[in-house]
Amino acid sequence: MPPTPHPPPPPPNEHSRLTKNVEETRNSHSQSRYFANAEQYMDVQWRAKIEPRIRDGDFSSTLDLACGHGRNAAKLLPMCKELWLVDVNDHCIEACRKRFVDAQTVAIHYHVNDGCSLSFIPDGRLTFVYSWDAMVHFDTLVVERYIHEFARVMAPGARGFIHHSNYGAAHPDSNWLDNPHWRSNTSRDDVARYMTAAGLEIVSQELMPWGHDADLDCLTRFRKPG
Ligand SMILES: C[S@@+](CC[C@H](N)C(=O)[O-])C[C@H]1O[C@@H](n2cnc3c(N)ncnc32)[C@H](O)[C@@H]1O
Repeated sequence: MPPTPHPPPPPPNEHSRLTKNVEETRNSHSQSRYFANAEQYMDVQWRAKIEPRIRDGDFSSTLDLACGHGRNAAKLLPMCKELWLVDVNDHCIEACRKRFVDAQTVAIHYHVNDGCSLSFIPDGRLTFVYSWDAMVHFDTLVVERYIHEFARVMAPGARGFIHHSNYGAAHPDSNWLDNPHWRSNTSRDDVARYMTAAGLEIVSQELMPWGHDADLDCLTRFRKPG
């Protein structure tokens, strides 16, 4: 069966669930000390969890989805020709603009989005899709939409790496704000199913603890055939 170009529009009750999740995640970290605190963990997370899993990538045209204040982007920048920084929160994009004001050799595209689409990125443009410590909070409805967008904006042969929740494996009907570390109702298998439906191939999926909670998260590597 050919891949579906888009997930079908959600019925009204799911549409309101989607917009509620986007509204809640948009503001969940902006009032906290998260962004300043998280900087100190970036080097160790990059070395131990991230770089070994993405080192075979082509970062010429890379998306950092839900970029926050740019701690991942600072790592990605030296490897890119162009970097797409996307976040639903305008304060985050503003913080990135200030942080990277002196980046001269890389074309950085800054976008505040609607929380589930990438309409400003042309079809087939990206060589790498990246997201760390953000999709873990996204409802399955949001994750499904982004995965279909990844399939559209990735070039044939492009690769991706996303960090997402696996809490939904045992708690598919849970409310993310009640869950450990605010993990969403998404599971490893949900992501595999959405990837397949969008025409993307799973390269690997590894369950990962966060804090003291085993198998709370999942690291999914994927590629677009071609
Ligand atoms: C926990 S912070 C992580 C930021 C960054 N990835 C990092 O590791 O520092 C989560 C980020 O996701 C953004 N965000 C939340 N919901 C989003 C959505 N639906 N689409 C895009 N960005 C979103 C927030 O504004 C915030 O910047």
